Amino acid sequence: MKQLAVFVSGRGSNFRTVHKGIQAGEIPATVTLVVSDKPQCPAADYARGHGIEVVHYPSPDITPDNLKHHLKDRDIDLILLAGYLKMVPAEVVQSFPRAILNIHPALLPAFGGKGYYGHRVHEEVIASGAKVSGVSIHFVDEEYDHGPIVAQLVVPVHHDDTPDSLAERVLSFEHQLYPKVVGALCRGEIYWRDDGVPYIDPPIVL
Ligand code: GRF
Repeated sequence: MKQLAVFVSGRGSNFRTVHKGIQAGEIPATVTLVVSDKPQCPAADYARGHGIEVVHYPSPDITPDNLKHHLKDRDIDLILLAGYLKMVPAEVVQSFPRAILNIHPALLPAFGGKGYYGHRVHEEVIASGAKVSGVSIHFVDEEYDHGPIVAQLVVPVHHDDTPDSLAERVLSFEHQLYPKVVGALCRGEIYWRDDGVPYIDPPIVL
């Protein structure tokens, strides 16, 4: 059973989907801790409502080192970013090698990086004329949306899409893919090629 910390900033629909997968026995894990830069956001409310500790970070009274030690003291095995808008401090990234996942609502390495979050991602996809977008799940390094990609899904872009309609379509695929990838990680089904590229075996079936 893996102990998870989930980092959130807002709505928390991916967090809730993963949590439901845990409750349904599909993911051998428990959510021990939630970290949020916005401790009153719906995702943090959901955590408190389920008896999960919420840590406010960044906040004036907690340093990156404090956060790292807190995660270690609580025996966290894996960290999931689920709509967390802040950079994970380097101290934490370095202490959790190959153990931090992020979900991004486009096909990385396109349409990612600093500032590419929320509606901006979908606006830019539509403006580019791309006919497909998608979901990317990647391991986290010290740059935004940059670490090794472990899973992707392609989602069509329609000619009359608005950022809202595309976001909604992509999100429905996020909710399918993230719990499956988290389950694979918790079960030890993610392996690494010699060149540092991760892959899932057995492959995910949606
Ligand atoms: C999702 O689109 C996710 O890909 C991105 O931020 C959004 C978070 O949504 N990183 P939610 O808070 O999980 O509902």
